[in-house]
Amino acid sequence: MSKVDVVIGCFYGDEGKGKVIDYLAADADIAVRATGGDNAGHTIKVGDVKYAMRLIPSGILSGHTVGVIGNGMVLNPKVLMEEIGNLTSHGYDVQRYLRISDKTQLIFPYHRRMDQALEKGRTSKIGTTGKGIGPAYCDKYERAGLRVEDLYAPSFGDKLKWLVDTRKALLKFYEPEMGAEIDEALDFEALYQNYCTYARQMKPYVCDTVTYLHKALERGEKIIVEGAQATLLDIDFGSYPFVTSSNPTIGGILTGTGLSPSDIGNVYGVIKAYSSRVGEGPYVTELLDETGDRIRELGHEYGTTTGRPRRCGWLDLVALKYAKRVNGLTALSVNHLDTVGKFDKIKVCVAYRCKDGITEDFSTNLEFLDHAKPVYKEFEGGFGGLAGCRGFDELPKAAKEYISFIESYIGIPVRFIGVGAGREAMLVKG
Ligand code: GDP
Ligand code: IMO
Ligand code: MG
Repeated sequence: MSKVDVVIGCFYGDEGKGKVIDYLAADADIAVRATGGDNAGHTIKVGDVKYAMRLIPSGILSGHTVGVIGNGMVLNPKVLMEEIGNLTSHGYDVQRYLRISDKTQLIFPYHRRMDQALEKGRTSKIGTTGKGIGPAYCDKYERAGLRVEDLYAPSFGDKLKWLVDTRKALLKFYEPEMGAEIDEALDFEALYQNYCTYARQMKPYVCDTVTYLHKALERGEKIIVEGAQATLLDIDFGSYPFVTSSNPTIGGILTGTGLSPSDIGNVYGVIKAYSSRVGEGPYVTELLDETGDRIRELGHEYGTTTGRPRRCGWLDLVALKYAKRVNGLTALSVNHLDTVGKFDKIKVCVAYRCKDGITEDFSTNLEFLDHAKPVYKEFEGGFGGLAGCRGFDELPKAAKEYISFIESYIGIPVRFIGVGAGREAMLVKG
């Protein structure tokens, strides 16, 4: 039976997972997403067209890969329809190449409103994307959430009415000054009509994706998992509470798809040759100086989903070793080698200096992270003109040394190297 390859972000998101998926999708029959919703933004450059995929797995852009929205995701039908419209206008046969799990949780407009109200009321902000992700997962775990299959059940109207009434009361509490004004988010009649329309539009895509994926594996088809968010944003293994509301790590990949541990083959951890974070929370290698600003400008580090400037810093190998341990990574993909190559000197964090001394072991304890200071090792940079390189051997000596050091520190090979944003700018290391 064919083994499933998994792509997981190692830090705080936006490592270039979409680009790696786009590469792997060339040989894959199915690309499935397991967690999150339209808080993700996966950028893929195909020729002159730039796609920012939020919900539909970006593997679909190969033109022959089926994209599966897994049971572990939270789905905003409005965003889904926008994405389907955009892909269709670019010539993609979405009807043929999209499947949606009947168990996927639905996002309703009141989830977004609740997300924004909660964020406004927080004294210590998380910096959520405001897409309703947290409140939708809260409803799931409260066992009050509605799943895609509920749209087609006779009880849908009654369940939705109960949810709208109870969420209205909650919003009154969280938004006292607004008094839970009735808008599209809380108007039951309008919501019911809209979601019945979405139900009709989504119907051709909905199926039992667990059976669908396993039957595909039994036929020997190739499946890849498109991780969204990242290890340090994981609700259990990230810098809680500055995290998202799902498990983007390997466990969430399994529960979010119905695949089993023995189905998994390669687990690719994706990093940039530097690091970035959008939203609040600790970040040991953050650079609040002109070097950080320069990384942001050279790497175009502005959020795909929200347009927010991303916080930037050097690569953190202490955190990467943690991501390797938590996810069982088998290999790495290092993106933006072209971007760090523009610096004369490149720094890499190889240890943290803490109250109790030097350590190479990461912890998500906030007190620990607040006091940890990076210990850097410096490398030669100044390697421009990587665009012409077609293999690892063609890279300049300094670039090879940088990659080899990452491999020896983490103890797994680097398999893919990104040397530009385009589809072709990816080196495969044997
Ligand atoms: P994702 O959420 O992990 O898929 O990453 P994003 O798409 O949010 O952010 C990654 C950004 O880096 C996008 O703008 C990509 O086009 C870009 N990118 C990815 N790999 C490379 C690379 O190797 N070099 C350069 N210059 N840009 C890259
Ligand atoms: P991709 O898949 C970067 C961050 C938000 C915020 C925190 C919680 O593109 O890597 P949420 O809206 O999920 O409740 O926000 O998580 N976040 C991301 N940051 N890339 C993402 O996805 C993210 N998804 C969520 O910025 O700090
Ligand atoms: Mg992104």
